[in-house]
Amino acid sequence: MRAMVYRGPYKIRVEEKPMPALEHPNDAIVRVTLAAICGSDLHLYHGMMPDTRIGHTFGHEFIGVVEQIGSSVQNLQVGDRVMVPFNIFCGSCWFCARGLFSNCHNVNPNATAVGGIYGYSHTTGGYDGGQAEFVRVPFADVGPVRIPDWMHDEDAVLLTDAAATGYFGAQLGEIVEGDTVTVLGAGPVGLIAAQSAWLMGAGRVIVVDHLQERLEKARTMAYAETLNYDEYDDVVVELKKRTDYLGADVVIEAVGAEADGNLTQQITGPKLKLQGGSATALNWAIDGVRKGGTVSVVGAYGPIPNAVKFGDALNKGLTLRMNQTPVKRQWPRMFEHVRNGYLTPRDMITHRFPLEQIPEAYHVFSSKLDGCIKPLVVPGAG
Ligand SMILES: NC(=O)c1ccc[n+]([C@@H]2O[C@H](COP(=O)([O-])OP(=O)(O)OC[C@H]3O[C@@H](n4cnc5c(N)ncnc54)[C@H](O)[C@@H]3O)[C@@H](O)[C@H]2O)c1
Ligand SMILES: [Zn+2]
Ligand SMILES: [Zn+2]
Repeated sequence: MRAMVYRGPYKIRVEEKPMPALEHPNDAIVRVTLAAICGSDLHLYHGMMPDTRIGHTFGHEFIGVVEQIGSSVQNLQVGDRVMVPFNIFCGSCWFCARGLFSNCHNVNPNATAVGGIYGYSHTTGGYDGGQAEFVRVPFADVGPVRIPDWMHDEDAVLLTDAAATGYFGAQLGEIVEGDTVTVLGAGPVGLIAAQSAWLMGAGRVIVVDHLQERLEKARTMAYAETLNYDEYDDVVVELKKRTDYLGADVVIEAVGAEADGNLTQQITGPKLKLQGGSATALNWAIDGVRKGGTVSVVGAYGPIPNAVKFGDALNKGLTLRMNQTPVKRQWPRMFEHVRNGYLTPRDMITHRFPLEQIPEAYHVFSSKLDGCIKPLVVPGAG
């Protein structure tokens, strides 16, 4: 089969790989019909994630058709159209029993630190991902869900991660009616976080980024106020000015370890690797939230330490909440919001690339060329 293959930082190819096989009675093989590239894939692409091995196939946002099922699979049939959450999880361990699907204890040799994720390096279990024609889906009775008839494929694929993560980011913020919510990052995750904040009762939503087309999307798609951090010497001062000099009630950090906006962080982080990445957005969140407020972090950080303003967080009495998204837990409520038009994930899609052109897709998305906000990848096309 044809699959995206990692060859080293900034080196992606499409290669012929063996078809994935059933390795366990509860596995399924899914023929991928639509995949996406996530902002998290860029951390892999840039060589930021430890133990990203040559030959690994990325891709944790995908939908497809069940091609083959193992002997114990009961909930799926060959031919079913399914959406597959990015988490691989067993459904029955201590963590899964409490809905903490992203913290499953049974799917990763490194499970005390992180759960299982498709196509996300050996740090998260080493499972090959869905930027390919076929993918092995472990615990097939647990993760995948049949795509409802009314749901658009392009919404379904985004619900497997980006949209669910934006919603989760807003949830972790514990928004109370009337709250002012600041969202750092107007990528796919931040855009849905902004839409979701309204659904949870926000009175004001302010989105921060420096890419004009994304800020424009935040205005049109999420009716948010926007702030371009390139236009201010000190973005935190501007955020405070806009919030009665107190700070926002809730800040959602939807940027992660490759944040820009602070040269020292960029040099010591992504460039010299003296820390796990740049904690600029996280520090803006800590500085930009009011005392006693909540910082929700869904931006991704690797396992290596970062220079985070922890003392300030302590002295301000902040609540810090964070996790990888337990995607399937969000779905029942999100499906209703998508069906009713309150969440509109596919509005953010700007590009569709055939699988054979995935190196170009990574380049365009990574360099934010051509107004790219969210690229999809279509196996078997072109
Ligand atoms: N927790 C999870 O389960 C989970 C799931 C999906 C994605 N993520 C992470 O969420 C983050 C966002 O994902 P995405 O797909 O939207 O990524 P993206 O790269 O498309 O978007 C990130 C945005 O942040 C902006 N940005 C950079 N520095 C900034 C700063 N200092 N302040 C404000 N904005 C800044 C960039 O211009 C960009 O628009 C990534 O770190 C990704 O790895 C986490
Ligand atoms: Zn992702
Ligand atoms: Zn589990």
